[in-house]
Amino acid sequence: MQVAFGTDHGGFDLKDTLVQEIESLGHEVLDHGAFKYQPDDDYPDFAEAVAGSVSEGLASKGVLLCGSGVGASIAANKVPGVRASVCHDEYSARQGVEHDDMNIICLGARIIENELAKELIRVFLSAKFSGVERHKRRLGKVIDIENKA
Ligand code: RB5
Repeated sequence: MQVAFGTDHGGFDLKDTLVQEIESLGHEVLDHGAFKYQPDDDYPDFAEAVAGSVSEGLASKGVLLCGSGVGASIAANKVPGVRASVCHDEYSARQGVEHDDMNIICLGARIIENELAKELIRVFLSAKFSGVERHKRRLGKVIDIENKA
């Protein structure tokens, strides 16, 4: 699948490791930068680009990094159709997709170490929305909130 990827300076050190991991799983990375370490770059710029790719269907899922994952998540969720969350444990990375149809995972590169980040990416990318009725109902209510805003 196409996976949109973006990071600010807070996640830049983890970028190559995760891009390689995504590609090693057979996916294609749509790279929205950063393309070099710039300590004064801003996470909303990368979050908007990744979220836009997912929202427009250019990518099926997205991966965002920042220092904590929080800023990237907040920004990405402003884009219609995006369901982004910080996930620093495998259960959430899997269940977020299976139950909530999460389409962007946000990682805090200052919080987690590389091997866990790689595992979270593997879990997130392999998980699929369950399609179970109660999850569809709840997802529908989430979409209703978005449509009312
Ligand atoms: C940047 O220093 C840092 O604030 C940002 O990467 C992120 O952690 C925000 O949530």
